[in-house]
Amino acid sequence: MIKKFPLINDKLNHFYHGADYNPEQWLKYPGIFEEDIRLMKLAKCNVVSLGIFSWVTLEPQEGVFNFEWLDNVMDRLYENGIYTILATPTGARPAWMAANYVEVLRVGENRVRNLYGQRHNHCFTSPVYREKTQIINKKLAQRYSNHPGILAWHISNEYGGECHCNLCQDAFRTWLKNKYGSLESLNDAWWTTFWSHTYTDWSQIQSPAPHGEAGVHGLTLDWKRFVTDQTVDFCKEEIKPLKEINPKLPVVANLMELFDGLNYWKFTEVLDIVSWDNYPKWHEKVDESNLASRIAMNHDLFRTLKNGKPFMLMESTPSATNWQAISKLKKPGMHLLSSLQAVAHGSDTVQYFQWRKSRGSSEKFHGAVVDHCGHENTRVFRDVTEVGSVLEKLDEVLGTSVQPEVAIIFDWENRWAIKDSQGPRNCGMKYEETVHSQYKAFWESGVPVDIIDMECDFSSYKLLIAPMLYMVKPGVGEKIEAFVKNGGTFVATYWSGIVNENDLCYLGGFPGPLRKVLGIWSEEIESLYDDESNNIIFSYDNKMGIKGEYETGELIDLIHVEGAEVLATYKSDFFAGRPALTVNKYGYGNAYYIASRNKDDFNEKFYGELITRLGIKPAVNAKLPKGVTAQLRSDGENDFIFLMNFNNGEEKVVLEGVVYEDILSGSNLEGETNLTPFGFKVMKRKSQI
Ligand code: GLA
Ligand code: ZN
Repeated sequence: MIKKFPLINDKLNHFYHGADYNPEQWLKYPGIFEEDIRLMKLAKCNVVSLGIFSWVTLEPQEGVFNFEWLDNVMDRLYENGIYTILATPTGARPAWMAANYVEVLRVGENRVRNLYGQRHNHCFTSPVYREKTQIINKKLAQRYSNHPGILAWHISNEYGGECHCNLCQDAFRTWLKNKYGSLESLNDAWWTTFWSHTYTDWSQIQSPAPHGEAGVHGLTLDWKRFVTDQTVDFCKEEIKPLKEINPKLPVVANLMELFDGLNYWKFTEVLDIVSWDNYPKWHEKVDESNLASRIAMNHDLFRTLKNGKPFMLMESTPSATNWQAISKLKKPGMHLLSSLQAVAHGSDTVQYFQWRKSRGSSEKFHGAVVDHCGHENTRVFRDVTEVGSVLEKLDEVLGTSVQPEVAIIFDWENRWAIKDSQGPRNCGMKYEETVHSQYKAFWESGVPVDIIDMECDFSSYKLLIAPMLYMVKPGVGEKIEAFVKNGGTFVATYWSGIVNENDLCYLGGFPGPLRKVLGIWSEEIESLYDDESNNIIFSYDNKMGIKGEYETGELIDLIHVEGAEVLATYKSDFFAGRPALTVNKYGYGNAYYIASRNKDDFNEKFYGELITRLGIKPAVNAKLPKGVTAQLRSDGENDFIFLMNFNNGEEKVVLEGVVYEDILSGSNLEGETNLTPFGFKVMKRKSQI
């Protein structure tokens, strides 16, 4: 049974709508702040994220603090009904700090220390940076944690990157000692007899470097794990002084789209809420469905990270960015649709970067709610206001969520290992794309999906998909076996069950721990050049009832069945007639193996069949035109269906079964329903889940 999650903060029981606000840039411009307040109210904004890059304004010299300006900003905003998400300022540091303490500056993998500049580039190990962070965070907490206008803490900004200084090297060695206990087990795990790389003293171990060690895959993997752990540790320390003063105030960090550098699952314990910064390149293609589904998958990931708890859309641009190769404006309707897409997948906020365009420096042309012209008579301002008006009507959706019957595994450590694997396709193994191409089939059918990692609990799902599960960690094979034995349906693909958690190949036949449940053995894998292809042909009378041929390419696994049934075979080449798709009955469930990299048409057909056969419920009973999708949020009593049209043209959907209430217009919807270009409906029905 679905439950409603609590509000982010009881002080505000509406969707949050607002922006990063950087008033410290405008302190010398009289009138701007009061004008901002007027405009925020006009744009129906009720929150700002404040102080993200304010460190030097808060602490202009070491140990000298200045909070009066922030007192005034928070007070005046609150008096005007605008709440604050207050940031810790560690995303960028003052020049005086770098000048006084060189160790706060990050060292690159080439072992060259950065000069002062840019942002997001501190050493996360440096005791000085950690101490300075403690001091400023404590002062902020003492002064503002009990301010009536504060809703949450925005921790730092977009954590990311790595530091290779001597402090970090030492911390890495300590981390390794804790993990392996002895050099011998480290050497065994890293297979260091290869090229005579055996370590005989801990001090010989260095982080990976382009001009140093880059070929010991176990080392690279552990380094990435260490970087995540060290960043999480830094984040934890940031949070400590905040929680000491007001433990109830939630902490949130803004994460990034499928960010490779940090395993976000490790942050879930530390953060009360996750948020992310979403900058899709809308209108790059006429068919937006690839991009729309990729963004949808990200939203689903960020919701799944906290087990279905609503997330926050912390940043998005009200118009164009200024950092994409081509920074396009959003066509009419897209800003609202893109904002509502986040809500559809579980966000309880829509927030922007940033409120007012900076006058100078590198983001002076980045989209903002208020442009350099300074007034409200702009298309962007009207678009933003429209989002505010819509969100005001969605109060009953707040805190609702979804319990998908389908989960797709997207696992960071697996991803890192695949990238480093040096195998059949060094021009790109395309792990992320492969995960997304499975996901897209569900997006097109309007079927909700969770994006999990291999350590999650699988038991609540009907269908579990593990694209390219190259690394299988201890216990995961057994967990998948239990899942299938109990009646679950499992789908694996080529390039699965190859290595263990240390990136050591499984001996005794691939797919290692998945071999039994899948009932197949993979002998070798063929790679195709981009201009080569093959076909898979469904066998006559196969039990999925699929007919015909589907084009395949890039990676072709050559397998033998060991109990599994063959559903399709390869058409040509020396392996013509060998199995390309199999299913193995195991206990009460079934395990499918997709042996080759197929295209969208196969995924649509194959997963479409599974959806029907397993009785998986789509969000809405209707056939969805291409580019149109549906998502669901529910409180267990009512379902809220978001029907979204990502086409720049009108679409019709025939709603079957029930009469829906159109939340925005108040009217009823049944049968044929029209969607405007980039249009959507938010529809309510009695819960069907
Ligand atoms: C990131 C940062 C913001 C801003 C935007 C611009 O998300 O967090 O400070 O630089 O990018 O798109
Ligand atoms: Zn460092």
